Amino acid sequence: MEMEEKLAQLLAEAVKDIDQAASVKEIEAIRIGYLGKKGQLTSVLKGMKDVSPQDRPIIGKKANEVRDQVTQTLTDKKEALEKEALEKQLESETIDVTLPGRQVKKGQTHILTQIMEKMEDMFLGMGYEIVEGTEVETDYYNFERVNLPQDHPARDMQDTFYITPELLLRTHTSPVQARALEKHDFSKGPLKMISPGKVYRRDTDDATHSHQFHQIEGLVIDKHVTMADLKGTLELLAKKMFGEERDIRLRPSYFPFTEPSVEVDVRCFKCDGKGCSVCKQTGWIEILGAGMTHPEVLEMSGVDSTVYGGFAFGLGPDRMAMLKYGVEDIRQFYLNDQRFLGQFKRKG
Ligand code: PHE
Repeated sequence: MEMEEKLAQLLAEAVKDIDQAASVKEIEAIRIGYLGKKGQLTSVLKGMKDVSPQDRPIIGKKANEVRDQVTQTLTDKKEALEKEALEKQLESETIDVTLPGRQVKKGQTHILTQIMEKMEDMFLGMGYEIVEGTEVETDYYNFERVNLPQDHPARDMQDTFYITPELLLRTHTSPVQARALEKHDFSKGPLKMISPGKVYRRDTDDATHSHQFHQIEGLVIDKHVTMADLKGTLELLAKKMFGEERDIRLRPSYFPFTEPSVEVDVRCFKCDGKGCSVCKQTGWIEILGAGMTHPEVLEMSGVDSTVYGGFAFGLGPDRMAMLKYGVEDIRQFYLNDQRFLGQFKRKG
């Protein structure tokens, strides 16, 4: 029977095509190819009119069976392909929860900031206030008001970046003294302050010079302040920075804004005073300048120097850090290299 054969062949071809399909898209194309309006099964069924009436029900039944089987095979294959695709996707998206997590890189406070904050804590604990000055200063406050008039030879000690003839980048934190002095109301009590910040000098950068560095200025003005108060304060400072067993010595020096003036040495923490390369065989390391505030500085700020007096000191956190941690090049502090800065993690 011709028609029946055609149907059987069609079914066999369809099953083979479906079996070879590799995607859902191909399955849809096969469906249209066999079952669509212009599909192969449809065109076979168009030959039904030539089939004898007694055979028609048999052929009709057969045709329905073929259509159902093709449809079912298509559905099964489609499902299988979809499942396979899903499995592939899941596999590619698997999360391995046993992998170690990515490390979050944490920064740390810059070593110079750490030193300044340590000083701030210590002096706040002793009742000092922290006063901030500006990095752009006037010649008048940076020099004249701390007893360095025009043409004073000591101006040469601080080579200056001038912005205009009257404006400059401060060469030290001492102008903050003058500004604090003229503002302070002494009827309300003594003036005790420190002022940390950046300062600038026209130096050629090398291992021990930087055109920008830091200072911490200290100033205490009251009635009856003596040099013993200064020495006691500096001793505390040295112990806090370099260890409880450190002692200090004062050597006479000169600053225009203090009289008498001293340079302060701490006993070498490397060799404990025996003499080594850090202290250049002297057993002592210079850490700061200080002195009793010059009466002229007080008078220029409107403070009666016959009633009030006190001391001032200025120290360099850069130099302190270099000494304490054996840093050989001051420029390291300003390169922002994590390999260097990362070594100074604050403890606790
Ligand atoms: N201003 C001085 C300097 O930069 C340091 C100093 C401050 C000395 C206060 C004495 C008193 O060299």
